[in-house]
Formats: sequence, structure tokens, C-alpha cells
Amino acid sequence: MTKNVVVLMGSPRENGNTNILCDEFIKGAKTTGANVNKIIIQDQNINYCIGCSSCYKQGEKYCVIFDDDMRYILDEMDKADVIVFASPLYFYTITGQMKTLIDRMTPRYQDLHDKEVYFLSCGITGSQDNFNRAIEDFRGLLDCMPSPKEKGMVLATGVWEEGEINNTKFVQEAYELGKTVDD
Ligand SMILES: Cc1cc2nc3c(=O)[nH]c(=O)nc-3n(C[C@H](O)[C@H](O)[C@H](O)COP(=O)(O)O)c2cc1C
Repeated sequence: MTKNVVVLMGSPRENGNTNILCDEFIKGAKTTGANVNKIIIQDQNINYCIGCSSCYKQGEKYCVIFDDDMRYILDEMDKADVIVFASPLYFYTITGQMKTLIDRMTPRYQDLHDKEVYFLSCGITGSQDNFNRAIEDFRGLLDCMPSPKEKGMVLATGVWEEGEINNTKFVQEAYELGKTVDD
């Protein structure tokens, strides 16, 4: 079965290491014939969740600030079989861009059932243990979604400058992981 994949790129740096990881993952995914849509979160107009609870109270999944790009992003997530969350480490966790998007999933995260999910991250740290908080943030979201399947992650250590990741084993790792989307 041809998979539909949506990649959510959460670094503010379009030429950065996270985006390179995403592109390698996508190259791998495309070898399986997958349809891929990459969304660069920084380029989207996504307002903060204001905690008004309208999406709960009205029972209509109505969001009072839905007329920004989040409506499109949630539609894409809904259509996808596979969702890739990609974020560099910022103070041991995900970026504000990624967290803002996750908070805005509130009206519809319960509809996103049986999604296959990947996580891509990078940071200057030399230890993969230092990604644990970011992984837990990501798993907190998965705990709220119905029957997600976590399929894998790349945690790229030792990179800071834009493009530095190109000289590491992690690009190949991301490519190989992308090839698993049809497993
Ligand atoms: C605000 C900020 C906070 C950061 N915090 C961490 C951190 O806690 N741990 C870490 O290993 N790297 C940290 N870094 C380094 C980035 O994760 C690293 O530069 C990464 O390659 C950036 O990804 P990008 O190129 O996709 O933007 C931080 C960078 C910035 C700008």
C-alpha cells in the first residue's frame, strides 16, 4: 500500500540540520513510492492555543482561531498514514515552533488514530541520553492519540552549525529509517 507521509519540520533554520534529516528521511520514504508532504512549521501562520476550551465545550471540534494554517496542517495529518515530528533540541526539549503546533492539535488529536509516527532530532550534545526530555514530550502527545505506532527515531549528536550533519552517519540513518515507512 502506498503510504501518505507528512513531515513536520520544527527548526526555524530552513538550511539547518533538522531539515537535512527530514530530506534524507523523505528520500528513503520515496524509494517505497510514498507520497510525502513536508511542512516547515516556521513558514506557517500558527497562533498559540489560547486555552478557551471551545473545542471541548461545543463538541464540534470548533477552534476559535482556526482560520490560520492549522486547519490545513490538521487536515494533512488526518490524511496521512505516517507523521514525522522533527525538532532540534532547544534547552533539552523540542522547539517552541513544534510545541505551538502540538498544542493546536487539541481540537482533533483524538481523530488521529492508528498513525505511524517517527521522531527526528539533533543537537550539540554528545550523548543520546540528553534527548530523553524531547522524546518524552513527543510521547506525551502519542499518549493522547488513539493507537499510534511509534516506528523509530534518529537522534543526531554533536551538531550545531547549519549543515554540519552532512558529515555524519545520521544522514544515512535518516535515509534508512525513511525506507521503513512501508514496513
Ligand atoms: C535556543 C537554543 C537552544 C539549544 N539547546 C540545546 C540543548 O539543550 N542541547 C543541545 O544538544 N543542543 C542545543 N542547541 C543546539 C541545537 O540543537 C543545534 O544547533 C541543532 O543543530 C539545531 O538544529 P537546526 O540546524 O535544525 O536548527 C540549542 C540551540 C539553540 C539555538
